[in-house]
Amino acid sequence: MAHVLGIDIGGSGVKAAPVDTVTGQLITERQKLATPQPATPDAISEVVKELVKLFGWTGKAGVTFPGVVIGGMIRTAANLDQSWIGVDGAGEFGQATGLDVTVLNDADAAGVAEMRFGAGKGEVGVVLMLTLGTGIGSALFIDGILVPNTEFGHIEIRGKEAEKRASEHVREIDELSWGKWAGRVDEYLTHMEALLSPNLIIIGGGVSQKSEKFLPRLTGLQAKVVPAALHNDAGIVGAAMAAVHGAVGAARAPAEQ
Ligand code: BGC
Repeated sequence: MAHVLGIDIGGSGVKAAPVDTVTGQLITERQKLATPQPATPDAISEVVKELVKLFGWTGKAGVTFPGVVIGGMIRTAANLDQSWIGVDGAGEFGQATGLDVTVLNDADAAGVAEMRFGAGKGEVGVVLMLTLGTGIGSALFIDGILVPNTEFGHIEIRGKEAEKRASEHVREIDELSWGKWAGRVDEYLTHMEALLSPNLIIIGGGVSQKSEKFLPRLTGLQAKVVPAALHNDAGIVGAAMAAVHGAVGAARAPAEQ
């Protein structure tokens, strides 16, 4: 039995729930607090601490971060306060909560959970997970092993970063029709397919719950494109799994562990 608190830091909210890492199920209902603005290390750590308190948690915790994370260190923070860059994320959250904390990229966490329990379960070969949310996150797998911190949301399309054209956030603020936005997503996926030739593309983020609005409009992709199965819980589940197994091999770790 490995119960771990999973915490998912996003651009608008910080979500958490205790997770059974063997079954991938949330043990109790998740809690969500607003992401403070500015989203500085102190302000976010306060919210993480609050969530740990809400659950009365004393065990291990896994935390996602929307940027490049190498060995617990934050290297980029495209959609949070820039003062995160260079911060020891694992040390920061560990100090704030008094817990043993593992930190990893948010899309990597979501991908790990989908590969183990969701839309990518049992898939071998190259699988690409893309989360379309505040930004665009990516997770790349080969035979269930993660290549961490791929950052494909920053690939340039028509002279602009992909996440500035095809994220869910851009669809909302620019009030794009589903048709227009789907066209942008299609162009982006076609580009990614040309670069990586995945056999499966998993689309995550909140918008994965409205997949009927855009997946049928995609054209000409060779890869199977499917919505994420765990939707908004994927980050929480993947964070908890990474705390037990490490991010890279978590999707393939034996269930007994
Ligand atoms: C960040 C990624 C993150 C993605 C989704 C991007 O702007 O660079 O690290 O995974 O947003 O949050």
